[in-house]
Amino acid sequence: MPDAMSKDKKDKSNQLWGGRFSESTDEFVQAFTASVTFDQRMAQQDINCSRAHAQMLGKTGVLSAQDVEKILQGLEEISREIEAGEFPWSVALEDVHMNIEARLTDRIGDAGKRLHTGRSRNDQVATDIRLYMREAIDVLIAEAQRLQHGMLALAERHTDVIMPGFTHLQTAQPVTFGHHVMAWFEMISRDIERLHDCNKRVNVMPLGAAALAGTTYPIDRQYSCELLGFASVARNSLDAVSDRDFAIEFCASAAIIMTHLSRISEELVLWSSAQFDFIELPDRFCTGSSIMPQKKNPDVPELVRGKTGRVNGHLVSLLTLMKSQPLAYNKDNQEDKEPLFDTIDTLMGCLRAFADMIPAIEPKPDSMRNAALKGFATATDLADYLVKRGMAFRDSHEVVGKAVAYGIQQGRDLSEFSLEELQGFSADIEEDVFTVLTLEGSVAARDHIGGTAPAQVKSAIEEARTRIGNAYF
Ligand code: ARG
Repeated sequence: MPDAMSKDKKDKSNQLWGGRFSESTDEFVQAFTASVTFDQRMAQQDINCSRAHAQMLGKTGVLSAQDVEKILQGLEEISREIEAGEFPWSVALEDVHMNIEARLTDRIGDAGKRLHTGRSRNDQVATDIRLYMREAIDVLIAEAQRLQHGMLALAERHTDVIMPGFTHLQTAQPVTFGHHVMAWFEMISRDIERLHDCNKRVNVMPLGAAALAGTTYPIDRQYSCELLGFASVARNSLDAVSDRDFAIEFCASAAIIMTHLSRISEELVLWSSAQFDFIELPDRFCTGSSIMPQKKNPDVPELVRGKTGRVNGHLVSLLTLMKSQPLAYNKDNQEDKEPLFDTIDTLMGCLRAFADMIPAIEPKPDSMRNAALKGFATATDLADYLVKRGMAFRDSHEVVGKAVAYGIQQGRDLSEFSLEELQGFSADIEEDVFTVLTLEGSVAARDHIGGTAPAQVKSAIEEARTRIGNAYF
């Protein structure tokens, strides 16, 4: 029997599960398999999970009241120790769960050893992640809502400012700046809805699933569920410990938010260039160049645009991590945390930067207006004018196309033509044509729900304010 010798070879690292082992884990393998460097950020959630588990075991009589008391006391002290940054984290103890459990036993003795009755790190870690994500989602939603308020403030200040609207990045039709900002607002509204919806799947309690099959001890999962404030109990123990679809779903929602932010970023970068010159980004969101003294670079939007790649990458990581995993828990799942946490951190930083920056943007109305005057933005309005006088749309399209060709040749906008010149293209044209050819006339005419008319943008802002004033779900 290898007893005496193997005992020497065993060390602290195996103290929680080393019973069947005859030698210590290889030093490199120990570091390779450890997660404590990154999962310690779930320490408070792990403690809360243990508190609930101990109280539940006390209620069902598996643990004595005395043991429960000691455990709660010990966990309280450990919680404070962690808060104070004084907890002796040990890579040898692998993960946050075993670090805290070992510390508890060091502090309170045998009662600490009883805490793990009827549970496994498999249901424990799944519960911790969900507790952690639930809080993170609340903070992210609050930050996204702050961004929405900033967008509403910006839109409200500029409902009348006219700019070119683009398709294919070519001047298409005039729009109001407020209308454009409200388009961003709608994108963020759906993002917030997605986070709320994702939270429904996050807020389900795996605890009690134990390693994979449930446990032989009398447990009261409903009671743990109430203590932890989950909406419901996971219905199948195999599924509860193994699936990370809720984390994938969160990363998908985050990737969509980042994709939206990257689109807004791209517009801000373009618009703040000398070539567009549509907006001024406040200096505090930009940096200079170490060599070119004239430079003011839109770093914040550029960085947000860049970080989108990283969040989209995390989504692919998690999908690939989960792909083809047989039931139930596999150690692969330990790899869920770094992408997930980095997604949360990155998204938080980007939303924060945007919520600060967006309301501080200063549009340049003259510059926007001049740009709108350049690209024959009211050509559709002239075609519509002719249709309203009885011409078929395809014919009016042709007529206006000719007028535009003439304008290009002359270097003049349609609104700068004389009445006689316009009548040269169609005898139906009369003096009142100039009201539709102006930028103001063009935007004011799109006067329906969702249209760009300043009056409609004002009511869209009002409607949005009541919508976000109400709780989402
Ligand atoms: N550190 C592990 C994780 O993050 C905890 C669960 C480990 N369970 C196990 N049976 N090895 O997934």
